[in-house]
Amino acid sequence: MSGNRTFTMIKPDAVEKNYIGAILDKINAAGFKIVAMKYTQLSKENAGAFYEVHKERPFYGELVDYMSGGPIVAAILEKENAVTDFRTLIGATNPEEAAEGTIRKLYAESISANAIHGSDSDENAAIEGNFFFSSLERH
Ligand code: GTP
Ligand code: MG
Repeated sequence: MSGNRTFTMIKPDAVEKNYIGAILDKINAAGFKIVAMKYTQLSKENAGAFYEVHKERPFYGELVDYMSGGPIVAAILEKENAVTDFRTLIGATNPEEAAEGTIRKLYAESISANAIHGSDSDENAAIEGNFFFSSLERH
């Protein structure tokens, strides 16, 4: 079953601008099935833990403040080659460099408020999905 799931978050800037529906439409249109979904807000502590890998980066504090600053939508998505295909769908981290038609090109404001997250490996997709969704939930 490896390789068919990824994890995403619609980030606070996109939720604030009411882009949840438009972004979910694009995700479905690209062939992803939503198998778990939650509207929630991260505490600073949880945002810090989620982005622990970036702890030493200069933008870590800004990233944690931003990601805990408003509600998000977290979801587990299913499709063949989910991780790679989803990274293609969302586009480059910096929306100025994102390809035409990608979610970040369409909906992101800046490198820090970049609308959406997508896991970067099968291993991280599983870790990140487990961070938000209990194994007792049916997904
Ligand atoms: P995610 O899907 O959110 O993980 O983005 P990514 O994989 O495209 O980028 P990466 O994991 O390298 O960075 C995580 C997040 O940190 C990015 O989505 C940005 O919001 C933020 N970030 C990355 N680089 C910078 C930067 O140079 N400056 C600032 N302010 N934020 C950055
Ligand atoms: Mg990343």
